[in-house]
Amino acid sequence: MADTRENFGSRFAAIAALAGSAIGLGNIWRFPYMVGENGGAAFILIYIAASLLLSVPIFFAEFIIGRRSGANCFGAMSRLAPGSKWNLLGILCILTPTLILSYYAVVGGWSISYLLKSFTLAFPSFGSFSSSGWAVAAFVIYLALSCLIVAGGVKKGIETFSKVSIPLLFILIVGLAIYSVTLKGGSEGIDYMLKPDWGKVSARTFVNAIGQSFYSISLGMGIIITYASYISKKENIVFSGVGTAGFDLFFAVLAGFVIMPAVFAAGIEPGSGPGLIFDTLPYIFVSMSEASPILATIVAVSFFLTVTIAALTSSVSLVEVPVAWLIEEKTMKRGSATLFVFAVTGIIGAMCALNLGIFDWLDKLCCNILLPIGGILCVIFVGWVMKKDDVRDEFTSGGSGSARLFGFSYFLLKYLAPLAVAVIFLSNFF
Ligand code: PHE
Repeated sequence: MADTRENFGSRFAAIAALAGSAIGLGNIWRFPYMVGENGGAAFILIYIAASLLLSVPIFFAEFIIGRRSGANCFGAMSRLAPGSKWNLLGILCILTPTLILSYYAVVGGWSISYLLKSFTLAFPSFGSFSSSGWAVAAFVIYLALSCLIVAGGVKKGIETFSKVSIPLLFILIVGLAIYSVTLKGGSEGIDYMLKPDWGKVSARTFVNAIGQSFYSISLGMGIIITYASYISKKENIVFSGVGTAGFDLFFAVLAGFVIMPAVFAAGIEPGSGPGLIFDTLPYIFVSMSEASPILATIVAVSFFLTVTIAALTSSVSLVEVPVAWLIEEKTMKRGSATLFVFAVTGIIGAMCALNLGIFDWLDKLCCNILLPIGGILCVIFVGWVMKKDDVRDEFTSGGSGSARLFGFSYFLLKYLAPLAVAVIFLSNFF
């Protein structure tokens, strides 16, 4: 089967797909606020350290599992640890993204709706919109779109889409950031985000930074395993890991430069989550339109286009995980596998779209419980179960790459990462 599998066509394609999965709502609606509330530049430094010392080693672990096995999450575990209970990790890594996709696509649906609304700047109130039938219809359209891209295949679908959307996302976000930081009164927003305030740093800050970085790089749910299985054996793993984390951080900081100056220029209290994107910002766009309707429309459309594309590149990666499993383990054709995932997540997601209580519950279950368990099991598997020589071989791309960082990375993933993820996991209960 391995020879009929598709691979990403180039290094850029692989990084674009990985960065696409990483860059998403987490960067836009959570990161800027987190930074502001947790000590500005101080938080960013802690975030960078958390990413390099923890998230990137966990990324390595998932990457090694995926590329070594050249299979979907379930197949990966049954190849690397045949006949063992590690199959359960494979199952978990298929279950988690399926659940996340179900509610993530609800937000994707909101984004598409708001993108359409921004052409006329006639935004509905978020409360009434999110509980309306339109929200469910938009969810179905968004989910169908994500599935269509995946149905196109790894190369023609995911790769082509990522190669176009990642550069487009950066152009949009840079353009919006330039506009936003030049707003009158906007510099307060930059101060809010960047001014280091070590007084705000506590143990909780570290937990927040690690959790955010973990979620933002899409760890613990089989995405890196699946994508890495499509990456050439020659590709440099350090480059992929640090590259993905770097793009993700860059985009998150730029998103902060877009949002916070606009929020402060309008004299509004910053917040996070759906309220920020679907309540506060539309309000700002509408008030901007009093001075210049055309400019306000361009800014609003660009902003919601950014949100929609960023969300799509993430949900595509979520769809691919169960689809790869259905194709390889259940011998389904890509088209029917995608349709199956569409149907299952359509049902779960429709419940989330209709009932935000279920939405919140699923979000907490996935992010606070399933993701950390998935992440910790991956590092334990690579650090403690796989042979060190095999891990080194994969890390150095079969000996062709440098082994300089291997010792340090191996130490981090074997000892520090499981410990840190366990602390984050347990902190949910206190
Ligand atoms: N990494 C994505 C973000 O920052 C979130 C995500 C989580 C995507 C889980 C896929 C799966 O928004």
